[in-house]
Amino acid sequence: MVARDAWGSRFGFVMAAAGSAVGLGNVWRFPYVAGSNGGSAFVLVYLAIVLSFGLSLVLAEMVVGRAAQRNPVGAFRALGGRGWAGVGYLGVFTGFVILSFYVVVAGWTLAYLVFTLTGRLDTTDAAALTETFNGFVGRSGAPVAYAALFSLATAGIVLGGIGRGIERANKLLMPALFVILVLLVIRAVTLPGAEAGLAFILVPDFSKVTSQTLVDALSQAFFSLSIGMGTMLTYGSYLSRDINLPSSGLIVVLLDTLVGSLALLLVLPAVFSAGLSPGAGPGLTFITLPAVFAQMPAGHLFGALFFALLLIAALTSAVSILEPTVAYFVDEHGSSRRRTVALTALACFVLGIPASLSFGALSDFKIFGRTWFDFVDFLANSLLLPAGGLLTAIFVGWVWAKPAVFNLANQGRLRLPWAPLWLVVLRFLAPLGILAVAVSAVI
Ligand code: TRP
Repeated sequence: MVARDAWGSRFGFVMAAAGSAVGLGNVWRFPYVAGSNGGSAFVLVYLAIVLSFGLSLVLAEMVVGRAAQRNPVGAFRALGGRGWAGVGYLGVFTGFVILSFYVVVAGWTLAYLVFTLTGRLDTTDAAALTETFNGFVGRSGAPVAYAALFSLATAGIVLGGIGRGIERANKLLMPALFVILVLLVIRAVTLPGAEAGLAFILVPDFSKVTSQTLVDALSQAFFSLSIGMGTMLTYGSYLSRDINLPSSGLIVVLLDTLVGSLALLLVLPAVFSAGLSPGAGPGLTFITLPAVFAQMPAGHLFGALFFALLLIAALTSAVSILEPTVAYFVDEHGSSRRRTVALTALACFVLGIPASLSFGALSDFKIFGRTWFDFVDFLANSLLLPAGGLLTAIFVGWVWAKPAVFNLANQGRLRLPWAPLWLVVLRFLAPLGILAVAVSAVI
């Protein structure tokens, strides 16, 4: 057997895991989901979920991966026996579903980078930008072609393995993304009329909390933290045994939350300033941000930088969605990495075609009342990820608790006074919370 690939440093691992977590989920999805759920109250519910269930599950996945040094299927099988391998298979399947719509939105990001550079978005007129967006995503050819390009780039990186490629890219790009975000936030909150947007995110209105708020906050938390399908597990499996996992996991969760919060501060004030509705759905970021750039000095530069960095954020996340699936075929079936990457990336792209066409040619094609895109988004975020998270919590909390704490503490070398609380969350709170939300989602 060839030696397994590994991270070069703890900083590299943290940046790669943060690169996985920080993606379209933070900058594209979070603002529009918060926008459709009334803003502030949603954000508070979201933060509570992230810091309780979210952090606990990130650590649970990482510790399982590090202990087993294997892909999700192999890891659950090695630590829990045959039956638990099913959780790994669920994760591999979920990876296909998520990546299929992820490449579509990432393709839009790539297209918008091109549009910014060619001046096609040079207007502050919201109606014109809405039309540009709807017109573009509704076409059958171009968005699919951009998704294909993005899939190729993702495959190219995964092909190179964990090693220095992903790690080095993340170490450079994550700080850069952060700096640009801060600059753009400063511009957005000083736009005329931005106060209404700030109030919308910051002043809580609990009358807006419904069971739908809870469902959406939970699924957003899972998606944003990359938990529920074995991504953090797989990244953890490339770690050596001596790094401090609890503090690494905490940093990843805090970075993800920070970037999500900055994205809210960037997008929603801009939405209100441009007189648009925060409930506009998936087009929100693509329609409002160009209007912000068009008003800034050197707006082309900032616009291009923003879409380039959003694209890279998407790429570092897409890579982390593909990697568990690839690791599964390579570890368990001895397939060549090259072949596996080519076939899995191709399959995700093909599954992405109907997702892309949902905005045009297939907009009338409905599954359970949703377009294909909305259906796969719902399937992954509201069902598959919570199910994966639930089973992972039960596994670590009930089946593998002692070794989990021992391993998390680096074979007893770290003092973890809060470990019993962690287990309580995994044993009771997370399963009950996820089940309650799932039941209310079905009703
Ligand atoms: N967290 C990423 C984002 O916010 C998406 C992502 C990467 C993901 N890996 C994942 C989501 C694993 C769920 C599971 O864009």
